[in-house]
Amino acid sequence: MPQVEINDEIMEAKLGEPLLTVARRNAAHIGFGCDGNGLCTMCECRVLEGGDQLSPLNKAEQAWLPDARVADGYRLACQASVRGKGPIRVLTRVEELRRQLGALLNPPAGTTSAEQLRPLLTNLVMINWEHLGRWPFNLLSTFQRLGPVRFLWPFNDTSQFLRDTVRVSERMLAGRRPAAGETAKPKEDEGGS
Ligand code: FES
Repeated sequence: MPQVEINDEIMEAKLGEPLLTVARRNAAHIGFGCDGNGLCTMCECRVLEGGDQLSPLNKAEQAWLPDARVADGYRLACQASVRGKGPIRVLTRVEELRRQLGALLNPPAGTTSAEQLRPLLTNLVMINWEHLGRWPFNLLSTFQRLGPVRFLWPFNDTSQFLRDTVRVSERMLAGRRPAAGETAKPKEDEGGS
């Protein structure tokens, strides 16, 4: 069974599963505001290793991710699926920002807050400037891709969406990692999100 490391935690995956499905099952720190419909970009993550073990960039990612972001290894976790046994290692955007903010507030030894400010600002500017710059055109192409109903209400399963949001939030607030053996396994009949 393929294994994926998300935010430094190893998780079991199934071939064909989107990274977002793996992350949500394990309550990893990841955003998923559009419930995996390639509309919000909150699930963006940086692939640190094993990019060739994932499905190729699809149209939704080509639309939303600027070339510089793609070159830096960023993917949309709801669109990138596991297609090899790994190793695959990713860091979610929200976790990357959380760590950069943490480094700013509590700089690692030998560094200063001023030095830590730059990567955080660069990341924020890249996200907002480059993503928002594509917004009008991408909204149109996303509308065509999803259709009016899914575009206006992108939630596939509202109950599951709320449950996963609570689980991810609780885990973040508790700052807890699952103990060995506690990691959620994919069910045999479980599909992607
Ligand atoms: S969850 Fe919204 S783009 Fe992936």
